[in-house]
Amino acid sequence: MKNLVVYSSKTGNTRKLAEAIYEYLPAEKEIYPINEAPDPEDYTFVAVGFRIENGEPDQAAQKYLKKFIDEKELFLFATHASKPESEMVKAAMNKAKELAKRARIVGVFDCQGEVPEEVLEEARKQQPVPEWVKDAEEAKGHPKKEDIDRLIKLLNSLDLPL
Ligand SMILES: Cc1cc2nc3c(=O)[nH]c(=O)nc-3n(C[C@H](O)[C@H](O)[C@H](O)COP(=O)(O)O)c2cc1C
Repeated sequence: MKNLVVYSSKTGNTRKLAEAIYEYLPAEKEIYPINEAPDPEDYTFVAVGFRIENGEPDQAAQKYLKKFIDEKELFLFATHASKPESEMVKAAMNKAKELAKRARIVGVFDCQGEVPEEVLEEARKQQPVPEWVKDAEEAKGHPKKEDIDRLIKLLNSLDLPL
């Protein structure tokens, strides 16, 4: 039984969730940033985390998710600036699910993630200003302890093959 956690994270928000999942999992377990991650095939359970960029899972995550070509147990998690219930988050999650076509999705989690001020400044210069920018104030400080608690509660409630 081998568990794998893979995360794509530029500013550390998604990495926080990844580390919490890693802590939660029983041995044997491994955790990698996405650019160092092994292919998923040798693992029983895999959790893949990404940030939402321009309305989609970030590009490195999209590439990795395409490697799920057999029926593996997959847990997806993500961070984003937008409100959790927004259509954009749903669409990005659906895209991630589509990419990992044959995987069995055992659970999905997302929460807001703070956006650094310099990133926001760049985004505000775009025309039109991206939708998610208006939610960035609310994203400040996330992921918070409440987000991590909610994640662990979800993992506990799932019938994971651990
Ligand atoms: C270039 C760029 C594009 C982004 N696009 C979106 C977006 O379309 N929707 C959204 O909700 N958040 C967007 N964000 C915010 C990030 O998804 C959010 O801050 C996330 O928590 C970053 O995760 P990380 O710290 O793991 O890299 C964007 C951030 C950057 C830098």
